[in-house]
Amino acid sequence: MLYPLWIDSPRLQEQLEALAAISEAPPPVVTRVLFSEADLRGRCFVRDLCRETGLVIREDAIGNLFARWPGKDPHLAPIATGSHIDAIPNAGRYDGVVGVLGALEAVRALKRHGFEPRRTIELIVFTAEEPTRFGIGCLGSRLLSGALTPEKAAALRDPEGQTLEHWRAKAGYSGPHLNSVRLASDGYAGFIELHIEQGPLLERENVPIGVVESIAAPSTLRVRLAGSGGHAGTVLMPERRDALLAGAEVALAVEQAALASGSADTVATTGVFRIEPGAVNSIPSRVWLEIDLRDTQLTTRDAALRRIESAVPEICQRRGVEFQLERLNVDAPASCDRALVDTVLAVCRELSLPAKKMTSRAYHDSLFMARICPTTMIFIPCRGGVSHRPDEYSSPDQIRDGVLVLAQTLAKLAA
Ligand code: GLV
Ligand code: MN
Ligand code: MN
Repeated sequence: MLYPLWIDSPRLQEQLEALAAISEAPPPVVTRVLFSEADLRGRCFVRDLCRETGLVIREDAIGNLFARWPGKDPHLAPIATGSHIDAIPNAGRYDGVVGVLGALEAVRALKRHGFEPRRTIELIVFTAEEPTRFGIGCLGSRLLSGALTPEKAAALRDPEGQTLEHWRAKAGYSGPHLNSVRLASDGYAGFIELHIEQGPLLERENVPIGVVESIAAPSTLRVRLAGSGGHAGTVLMPERRDALLAGAEVALAVEQAALASGSADTVATTGVFRIEPGAVNSIPSRVWLEIDLRDTQLTTRDAALRRIESAVPEICQRRGVEFQLERLNVDAPASCDRALVDTVLAVCRELSLPAKKMTSRAYHDSLFMARICPTTMIFIPCRGGVSHRPDEYSSPDQIRDGVLVLAQTLAKLAA
């Protein structure tokens, strides 16, 4: 059964606009790195909206925010939705945010209709889905699901050597211990994340809704190289141990590992390449690389991972450069819950909105929520499949469709 719901698209657009303005960089660029001033202001903005919507708020020790609409039957496990509001450097305004502000609009639409949930509905705003500060994505959902232990989280360091404890304290979250973040595995009846596709398929096929069946397997490596610095004019070429050149060869080996996998689904990127000292007349002595490698299949991802990991010592030995190689995360893919997928598909059918089952090549907090409860995602198209860029765009109508599907699905599951 469908509820006669109305989505307030202009109000949602205003809120998307307002949150996009909370950024470390001028418009249209959105940058909100974990626990930066912009991230903290973004959190305040969302917290205020949750309060205005009459939700009951809790924040945990890593800053995950839980906003509850209590159901009439407190014995039923809640149904959850949500996403993230942090944004990588030079990002757009929709990644993650559509699943937070869109979910709030879904709740408001249900409230406007007079819907009274039997099962509690909870909005979760996850901390640091993006890996920018510590090199590891989904910090909040990893801790919450037990995929990352508090001990490992406490050992994380940013490029300046600062710890998570340092940043947590700075952000005002240092009261309770990280041990308290983990949730029970029967805590939620389900989790449904609304998100832009971040790929081109829905737009290309003119399908308004994607329903996610599986999420690809991500991994991240950090490579630190130490060569020998010196004067760019006086150290002759045979004497050099240039860390940048070793790093450049590593980056090429990363590309080769993906190309050689034999599968178009293997993708690898060296997205961080820091050089010290970074002066034109100085030989680079230190390099810091971060490498992102993913695949829909674990076996091909792991084969490419082994290729990269064996290329690094070979390159460094040949160039007389010391190296430290660290696996920041090596995750399995997630399968979504078939019953939840079917529920979302049924809602789309009732709404006469064409829908397509898909695999998510991007990772999401859903990858980790799937470890503790039945999970799926609702995708909407984005222009040209563009994401992680300031020109990321989904139209108000595309967003409205996604919010409507989410609202109807939540209503079905909470009624
Ligand atoms: C998420 O932002 C990802 O990189 O897939
Ligand atoms: Mn992202
Ligand atoms: Mn995202």
